Amino acid sequence: MEAFNDFRKQSLPLIEKEMENFINEYTANDQLKKAMLYSIHAGGKRFRPLLVLATIRSFNKDVQIHDYQVAAALEMIHTYSLIHDDLPAMDDDDLRRGKPTNHKVFGEAHAILAGDGLLTAAFQLVAISQIEANQKILLIQLLSKAAGTQGMVAGQAGDLQGEERSLSLSELADVHEKKTGALIEFALLAGGILAEQPEEVVDLLGVFAKHLGLAFQIKDDLLDATSSEEELGKQVGRDEALNKSTYPSLLGLDGAKEALKEQLSMGSDTLEKIKQTSLAFQSELLQELLEQLQL
Ligand code: IPE
Ligand code: IPE
Ligand code: MG
Ligand code: MG
Ligand code: MG
Repeated sequence: MEAFNDFRKQSLPLIEKEMENFINEYTANDQLKKAMLYSIHAGGKRFRPLLVLATIRSFNKDVQIHDYQVAAALEMIHTYSLIHDDLPAMDDDDLRRGKPTNHKVFGEAHAILAGDGLLTAAFQLVAISQIEANQKILLIQLLSKAAGTQGMVAGQAGDLQGEERSLSLSELADVHEKKTGALIEFALLAGGILAEQPEEVVDLLGVFAKHLGLAFQIKDDLLDATSSEEELGKQVGRDEALNKSTYPSLLGLDGAKEALKEQLSMGSDTLEKIKQTSLAFQSELLQELLEQLQL
């Protein structure tokens, strides 16, 4: 299998092209298109689409055009979630991916519409892809569950309610699992399904994703409290300013770091389990993505 950096270098331009081409071809209003492309072109780590493709490669399958389409759709939904997350009515942020937030440039109304556009376009992209019909329906079901009222949207509601009162640790873990974990879980499940893996293996990918997703948001919370605007490309200290319930606010910095370590180690153990269950599985790429979450 190729090394992670080569894999990333090969994959990123294709994921980006997929998003850009789709938006260019299927958006019937120029200002809306500009607002959507602004946030798509702003970059970001592309963690979720890379996870989809890394999962497929981990079973030694070649990545096909429709795999890039699913990866691109997921990144479009993630980007929409960030545009809306930054709105004055939500986290009220001015900086995202090193640039002024979408509403700062295009105004609130167009930022809302750019988010609506990216969300809807993501489903259109999966729907018109060449994926086999049964698989496609399953992926659309899983993506709507992950993005919507059982997943990310529910988590964002819980996150905002966590400003009003301090959540318990298990309530907070549930919010994190939904607002951030659900899309990450979709990435792993979609990768397993597109690589045509048996249910038992896809289920284990889901277990891995739960640890990865929780780790991802704990790290995001830690960086908000300890990193800098230059490093993150977004404002820091926002969680405290907004009185959010976070891992650092509930457990302190050391407690949150410990919780992060624990999730990463359970994630690593799960990769070992997948290896024991599937002869085809090579864990290197996913291990590398996991390690990127270490502080
Ligand atoms: C930020 O996500 C929002 C969270 C769910 C923590 P990312 O950290 O993946 O942001 P980008 O895509 O790299 O900008
Ligand atoms: C965002 O969590 C989760 C989303 C679903 C967008 P945060 O509000 O902590 O993300 P950042 O810190 O603004 O990127
Ligand atoms: Mg938020
Ligand atoms: Mg935010
Ligand atoms: Mg944050």
